[in-house]
Amino acid sequence: MKHRVLVIGVGSIGERHLRCFQATGRAEVSLVEVNESLRGTIAERYKVANAYAGLDTAPPDAGGVAVVCTPAHLHIPMAQKLAERGTHVLIEKPLSITSNGVDHLIRTVAEKRVTAGIAYVYRANPVLADMRRATLDGRFGRPVEFIFVGGQHFPTFRPAYRQIYYTRHETGGGAIQDALTHIFNAAEWLIGPTDRIVCDAAHQVLEGVTVEDTVHAVTRHGSVMGSFALNQHQAPNDISITVVCERGTARYVLAESRWKWMTDPKPGTPWTEEPVVPMERDTWFINQANAFLDAVEGKAPVLCPLAEGLQTLRVNLAALESARTSAWVRIAR
Ligand SMILES: NC(=O)c1ccc[n+]([C@@H]2O[C@H](COP(=O)([O-])OP(=O)(O)OC[C@H]3O[C@@H](n4cnc5c(N)ncnc54)[C@H](O)[C@@H]3O)[C@@H](O)[C@H]2O)c1
Repeated sequence: MKHRVLVIGVGSIGERHLRCFQATGRAEVSLVEVNESLRGTIAERYKVANAYAGLDTAPPDAGGVAVVCTPAHLHIPMAQKLAERGTHVLIEKPLSITSNGVDHLIRTVAEKRVTAGIAYVYRANPVLADMRRATLDGRFGRPVEFIFVGGQHFPTFRPAYRQIYYTRHETGGGAIQDALTHIFNAAEWLIGPTDRIVCDAAHQVLEGVTVEDTVHAVTRHGSVMGSFALNQHQAPNDISITVVCERGTARYVLAESRWKWMTDPKPGTPWTEEPVVPMERDTWFINQANAFLDAVEGKAPVLCPLAEGLQTLRVNLAALESARTSAWVRIAR
């Protein structure tokens, strides 16, 4: 039996979720979209029979599962309404732009016994999952340092950036809430929750916006030290995540779609490369859709539970505060 999946907001990422849930072969997809012409275009493109103008006009049984793909300031009220109806809910990142309403949502999710997750899609990447297993298993000894370096040319990947949520912090915009939040969440998955952060952020290059497009952050996760350098304007589309452990170093390189490791410090020693896993961007999202449906069916835990999405939301907010004050910010749990 197929799951009835309601995708809410079929802009850039909503269209991808819609396509990727269809690709699982396990979903009968409907959609909600306020923009009338987009609603018609996407419904026609993916042969979606039921396309609604708003969540309130969709029948309560339109989806046993919903995917919330609207801008971040709308995530909590929508997820709250859905959870109250008993709908399982996968919410796009970041969970929200403040922590308002999150505790209420967590209580409702527990009371209604619905499955809820945050779509931090790095957790659906099998290469990074493999590197995580190796480091958590203690293969290289205790992790001591996490280093992220990354950037991409946002105007190339998201030409509409001046017209969408990205332009304002209040709608989930800026490099911290838009892009770096993925890595904050991946770091917590790999090396544990963030205790404190200090962050420098500025608008350096992107035309037509004033939000930060360049961020440097330093973090602490228990005894593990973290550092993050990200921009959204460089030409190379580069992402690497390095976990330095006591007896070895593991590195994930997005452009190579593999991870590699080194334990021998002798100069000239090459990295030992794990196999390349060829992946389209959609592959991550199809994996994530399958994982969420597995969780709904009780076959597997949710990849990123609500509580871990809330923890990363606190890191986003602490990073924004630190960027304003230039001071370390402790993250309360
Ligand atoms: N996981 C990822 O890699 C990734 C990538 C891009 C965006 N996102 C996240 O996904 C969310 C949406 O981003 P996007 O890039 O798709 O934005 P977008 O602006 O392209 O799409 C949002 C859509 O929601 C619709 N919408 C707004 N209010 C609505 C409402 N009340 N009911 C129904 N539809 C409504 C808009 O009309 C628009 O089509 C953001 O939270 C963003 O951070 C995640």
